[in-house]
Amino acid sequence: MTSEPPRLTRMRFHGPLSDARAKRLVAGLAATGPATVLDLGCGWGELMLDLLDAAPGAKGTGVDLAADDLERGRRNAAERGLGDRAEFVEVSATGYEHEPADVVLCLGSSHALSDATPPEHTAAALAALRKHVAPGGRVLLGESYWERTPTPVELANMWPDASAGELLPLAELATLSVAAGFRVAWLETVTVGEWEEFEAAYLADKELWLADNPGDPKAAEIAAGVERHRRSFLAGYRGVMGQAYLTLVPVA
Ligand SMILES: C[S@@+](CC[C@H](N)C(=O)[O-])C[C@H]1O[C@@H](n2cnc3c(N)ncnc32)[C@H](O)[C@@H]1O
Repeated sequence: MTSEPPRLTRMRFHGPLSDARAKRLVAGLAATGPATVLDLGCGWGELMLDLLDAAPGAKGTGVDLAADDLERGRRNAAERGLGDRAEFVEVSATGYEHEPADVVLCLGSSHALSDATPPEHTAAALAALRKHVAPGGRVLLGESYWERTPTPVELANMWPDASAGELLPLAELATLSVAAGFRVAWLETVTVGEWEEFEAAYLADKELWLADNPGDPKAAEIAAGVERHRRSFLAGYRGVMGQAYLTLVPVA
């Protein structure tokens, strides 16, 4: 009988985002008085739940393909007394049909909104988000970008077939947002410290499991995956790939 490392239990958000930044972003969205929230590629939808907490009466729909993460979202919603205002739906966000929502969240999930390949997926996602948001509403887009052009060595360390054309520079991301029919009401980027916290949390369950289970038949494979991932961050995208949070307002 072998155990498995638990899955991502040490992170609140499935992306680089400090609690303090999340709180500020949520307060800004809640101040607009949303009645409906749509979270596309929601995972376990923690920020959506924070927003429902901060916006009494608002109802939220989270959409993802990952059944376990959706179940975690349902569990968390019930524990926070939000079970009757939050639904988690197992369906693809690509081509998803829904009433336009007052707040649309797309956090680290722009690839989920279309079949376009990077970097075209960002423009495709912005077009979809423009359709999903109600007049006068808000989109919160959490999107990766290049802080600078990665070197060939950094790219080789990142992930299979990583290429410099895969992400946009930050200025380009803002320009595309405007071209998609939004004004950029707010734009902020995470610190390297937020990335480090996210990456540490990402690997911590596996690291602690490996320390306790060195003789497990799966240990070598899991350790190799951990090593690959840590190298891809430390020798690849650390300080090179940024994460931006854009609060977008649709132009009337
Ligand atoms: C980096 S995670 C971000 C999760 C969440 N937004 C958050 O910030 O905690 C990306 C998510 O996109 C989801 N995803 C990928 N393709 C998808 C699709 N076609 N439809 C819906 N979700 C998808 C994954 O299952 C994953 O939960």
